[in-house]
Amino acid sequence: MTTLEPGGVAVVTGGASGIGLALGRAFAARGMHVVLADIEAGPLERAAAELGATGSITDVSRRADVDRLAALTLEQFGRVDVVCNNAGVSIGSLPTWQYDQRDWEWVLGVNLMGVIHGVAAFVPHLVSQGFGHVVNTSSAAGLAVIPGLSPYTVAKHGVTALSEALLLELQQQGVDVGVTIVSPGMVHTAIRGAERNRPSDLVVERDASAKPSAFPDVPDMQDPNDLAADVLAAIEANQLHVAFVGAEPMMQERISRLNASRGEGDPLP
Ligand SMILES: NC(=O)c1ccc[n+]([C@@H]2O[C@H](COP(=O)([O-])OP(=O)(O)OC[C@H]3O[C@@H](n4cnc5c(N)ncnc54)[C@H](O)[C@@H]3O)[C@@H](O)[C@H]2O)c1
Repeated sequence: MTTLEPGGVAVVTGGASGIGLALGRAFAARGMHVVLADIEAGPLERAAAELGATGSITDVSRRADVDRLAALTLEQFGRVDVVCNNAGVSIGSLPTWQYDQRDWEWVLGVNLMGVIHGVAAFVPHLVSQGFGHVVNTSSAAGLAVIPGLSPYTVAKHGVTALSEALLLELQQQGVDVGVTIVSPGMVHTAIRGAERNRPSDLVVERDASAKPSAFPDVPDMQDPNDLAADVLAAIEANQLHVAFVGAEPMMQERISRLNASRGEGDPLP
């Protein structure tokens, strides 16, 4: 069981904005040492200064960057209590077959490989310490299928599956390291401007008819600080899921489709 006490160490990727910054603030408010990692230099510098945190320019899609982040954290603090693999990008809506190869590379590279890299770089240290907690940011799109958002949905399903497998493996080996999967609905952050972070070699020029449609604006988006409070409570309770309740009926629909295809349950619409 991980306790979030003064002197503990929390690492947060995508820590310069939105949910990552809110997590960083919440850990700092507990008196923890915070390491913020992000690809955007200016916002990272400002966020680290605000929190008195260590800032590390890191592209989570690159394994070497994440290994460097782990080495820096251990060199500076000698331990790591919480690792939040949170950095992520979103892409507008298109039918699956219209996404470009570079769209897949970018979204899977950050959202899925970023988490894989974080687990590979940090979990061996948590296992040898014998304590710690991994927080992986998935999405409601990691629990339920959202048509029109295939790269994002595929990446987030990967994060959910990897995190569940990770917890089962840790438990099977009797290692006292926890896992929490964060699967929010709509949160008020800068994610709609995620294209700002797309590397130039993965940019796709499209004509107007093939442009992805933007995420719709929805009222009453969740405040990232409220989500961060829920995540810290989940770490302390060693709870696997922090999930948007609206994902559940969508998951039920999937189970109905599975049953219908076996001739049981509700027929397909
Ligand atoms: N905002 C939402 O509605 C929502 C819903 C569900 C899940 N999420 C997930 O929450 C996480 C955080 O997103 P957010 O909403 O706070 O968005 P955000 O854009 O406010 O923050 C994301 C941060 O990740 C950083 N980043 C982007 N590419 C990176 C890379 N290659 N390496 C390191 N850092 C990188 C950005 O610079 C930014 O600071 C993401 O994984 C996202 O998919 C967000």
